[in-house]
Amino acid sequence: MASPRIIMKLTVTATRKESGDVLVIDLKHTRKPLLPPFEPGSHVDVHLPDGKVRQYSLCGDPTDLSRYTIAVKREEVGRGGSAWIHEAVAAGCMLPVSAPRNHFPLAQREGPTVLLAGGIGITPILAMARALERQGKTCELHYFTRSRALAPLLSVIERELDCNTVWLHFDDEPETRQDLETLLSTRSSDAQLYYCGPPGFMAAVDRATAHWPEGTVHFEAFQPPEQDRAPPEPFTITLRDGTVVPVAADTSALAALRAAGVLLMASCENGVCGTCECGILEGQPIHRDAVLSKDARTHRFIPCISRAAGVLRLDL
Ligand code: FES
Repeated sequence: MASPRIIMKLTVTATRKESGDVLVIDLKHTRKPLLPPFEPGSHVDVHLPDGKVRQYSLCGDPTDLSRYTIAVKREEVGRGGSAWIHEAVAAGCMLPVSAPRNHFPLAQREGPTVLLAGGIGITPILAMARALERQGKTCELHYFTRSRALAPLLSVIERELDCNTVWLHFDDEPETRQDLETLLSTRSSDAQLYYCGPPGFMAAVDRATAHWPEGTVHFEAFQPPEQDRAPPEPFTITLRDGTVVPVAADTSALAALRAAGVLLMASCENGVCGTCECGILEGQPIHRDAVLSKDARTHRFIPCISRAAGVLRLDL
């Protein structure tokens, strides 16, 4: 996969409105016939004119590299990026877009795959479902939304996926509703689960899979989980060369590191993209991100949002 630091100027070739207040955008390179390859679960950074960066999953076909497709849900209470995209982006526009990155890869394992999507969380899951279908692997997709009318990309799912592998669950259609605890109470011994959706959905799946073995549950979140928001405490970072970087209570570790002259890439600055990830050599992190796996939490750190107790020695 190409370096995420590459920023490409891509042209919007088409947009279309989808249910759920979603704008689907097709992007092509103006000069190159093929874009950098991507795997199901990958996302790109879209750089907005105000300098902000937003991450969007690639929901098109990974075997068609003539274009990327992203789907942007308009968030009324968001930070403004999706509203700008809905209002300003049209065919012919140019958008600066990073090369794809993947923090949500499909494990290359035999055995069945369970895919769960809540609302706009369907975007990475759709690419996964397509890939698994193409590979002839056993897969079931459960898609949860409030109603058919509010289900992003429903028409794509109905048109492109095998209806025998897709279960649609709408809150306003009692006969389709499915309780997550019941659905996930049992599992095939070799099953892998992937899920993505809004915070309430993520928390519900997390609870319902508490008994699934380590390494079998994978997720991607759009926002960090709701967590105990006790006032942050100051802490100290030490670097490999012995430099001491104090992190004040009202400053992020990322900001403190930058102020100390440490060059760290960052993108979302909200703990969801993984760009600023670095290694831990010693200490007690307080993880607040939505990107590291349980395993990675033992030795990796997300300085844009996570904190620590006492002194944290980073591999920087
Ligand atoms: Fe996105 Fe830190 S910049 S996780």
